[in-house]
Amino acid sequence: MYNSLEVGDAFGRALRDCWDRGVRRGTVFEISERDDGFLFIVDIAHYFQPPHLMGPVDRWACDQAEGRVLDVGCGSGRHGLVLMSRGHEVVGIDLSPGAVHVARSRGMTVVQASVDSLPDLGAFDTVLMLGHNLGLLESRAKAGDILRKLARLVPAGGCLIGSSAYPPPEDEPEHIAYKNRNIEQGRMPGQLRIRVRHRSICTDWFYYLCPSMDELRQLAGGTGWELTDSINGPMGYAVKMKRVVPGPAWPQCAVYQRDRSSAGTAA
Ligand SMILES: C[S@@+](CC[C@H](N)C(=O)[O-])C[C@H]1O[C@@H](n2cnc3c(N)ncnc32)[C@H](O)[C@@H]1O
Repeated sequence: MYNSLEVGDAFGRALRDCWDRGVRRGTVFEISERDDGFLFIVDIAHYFQPPHLMGPVDRWACDQAEGRVLDVGCGSGRHGLVLMSRGHEVVGIDLSPGAVHVARSRGMTVVQASVDSLPDLGAFDTVLMLGHNLGLLESRAKAGDILRKLARLVPAGGCLIGSSAYPPPEDEPEHIAYKNRNIEQGRMPGQLRIRVRHRSICTDWFYYLCPSMDELRQLAGGTGWELTDSINGPMGYAVKMKRVVPGPAWPQCAVYQRDRSSAGTAA
């Protein structure tokens, strides 16, 4: 029978095909199919982009990194390798066996793991979620949990640098209908349900979040991250979020202030 797709590591296979043939534009494509049938197509060579061809958003994002770096969803390692060349210790994680294989072949230390169930990899000064990988926050329900787990890896003062595609544009009927359907179903407007296809392989369907910057700020509230800086680009934006110590520090601080002022009155 024609037309049967095998469920598997479509993104990883596309990366491997491109890497094994010698990376050239126009040869291998990432096809992401949204569940209303809309297709997003990206040249896989983009994921091997050398530093001098990176756009301003990626360049800005790499410049924000500090110390030991966890590259979440590292793909072929294009950001991690730039940071390694600048002297950072970098550990990548990726769910895709094909991506892990390619990034390791390119010299990165990579562990195959999912962002929502990380093994113990030690502490990090910076978490990277680049290449629109804030999409891995999935949904309103999942985002807080993932951000809290990542916050546990980073001491106060560390940072998370992430980029996101803009929410689907308002000027196309398919995107307006998709956004409205999401809102009707109680989802965030930019929550996409997609799968990646390559040749006769497809991934399972998964959620991919494209939040506005304001929505991201709200999702981060109370998770240990505070949005401190950002940059906009033609396809999306990047943010820097600082690791802040949540909750208890502030009441203690208020008690200290109150004690000082009552001591002053008594005197
Ligand atoms: C859009 S690509 C970005 C790759 C890379 N950061 C870049 O910019 O070139 C998304 C990557 O995230 C990985 N990924 C998807 N879901 C993941 C998860 N739950 N945990 C870790 N990595 C994941 C994919 O396998 C893929 O390599």
